[in-house]
Amino acid sequence: MNHWLNPIDRPLIIGHRGASAHAPENTLAAFVLAVAQGADGIELDVMRCATGEVVVIHDDTVNRTTDGEGRVRALSLAALRRLDAGNGERIPTLDEVIIATAGASRPFLLNIEVKNDAAPFDGLERLVVEVVRRHGCEDRVLFSSFNPLAVRRLAQLAPDIPRGILYHHAMPAYLREVWLAPLAPHEFRHPDIGLITPEFVARLKAQGKRVNTWTVNTRADIVRAATSGVHGIIGDSPLAIRDALGI
Ligand code: G3P
Ligand code: MG
Repeated sequence: MNHWLNPIDRPLIIGHRGASAHAPENTLAAFVLAVAQGADGIELDVMRCATGEVVVIHDDTVNRTTDGEGRVRALSLAALRRLDAGNGERIPTLDEVIIATAGASRPFLLNIEVKNDAAPFDGLERLVVEVVRRHGCEDRVLFSSFNPLAVRRLAQLAPDIPRGILYHHAMPAYLREVWLAPLAPHEFRHPDIGLITPEFVARLKAQGKRVNTWTVNTRADIVRAATSGVHGIIGDSPLAIRDALGI
C-alpha cells in the first residue's frame, strides 16, 4: 500500500522544496532538515538536464537559485554539479534525494513534481518512473504536475503510483476546473491555498479525491487548511506547520 493513501487523523506535513524556509530550496540540506523538523514528507521539483539525468530544481534556468546562468535542459549534469545552490549545496539528482531520505525512522513521503511544461515531450515522466523503480520506493512516492497530460503519461507508465493534479486560483477558470482531469487518472488534487475553503475541499472529497494544498506558510492559512479537511499541507517550514497544528 502506498503510504500517501494511508488513513490520517491529522493533515500530513510536507516540506515545500524541503524545509526551504531554513535551508536552500531543493537541496539535500533542505530535505534532510525537513526530516529533522518532523515533516511527514517533502515536495520537490524535477527536470531533465541535457545529459538525461533527473535533477531537482524549480526554475527552467539556474539563474535564481545558483551562482550560474543558463537553462537546466541545456546544461550537463557535470556543469550543473559545479554550481553553488546556496551555502555550498549542489543541485541534487532525484537518486540522491531518494537515498538521503531512505534512512528516516519512518517512511518518508516524496511528492515529486514533474516540471516539463517548457519541454512537454522530453521523456521526463519515463525517466522519473525508472529512477523510482530502481530504488524500489514506489510506496512513498506521489507524483504531481500542473500538466494533466504529464499526469496521464504517469498513469500509463506507473498506474501503481498515485498522482495529483496541480492548479491555483489565478489560473483561467477552464484550467482551475481541471477539465482534462477525466483523461488523467489521479487520486489527489493539489490546489493552492487561495482556493481552499471547507466547501471546496468537501466537494473534491465527494468526488473521491484527497486534497494537498500549497504553499501554506502563515499560521492563519495552516489553520484554515487543517479545518477545511485537507489531506496534506505543503509549506516552506514543517516546524511552523507543526507549531500551528499543535503537534
Ligand atoms: O507542488 C506544489 C508547488 O510546489 C507548486 O508550485 O511553483 O512551487 O512548484 P511551485
Ligand atoms: Mg513545486
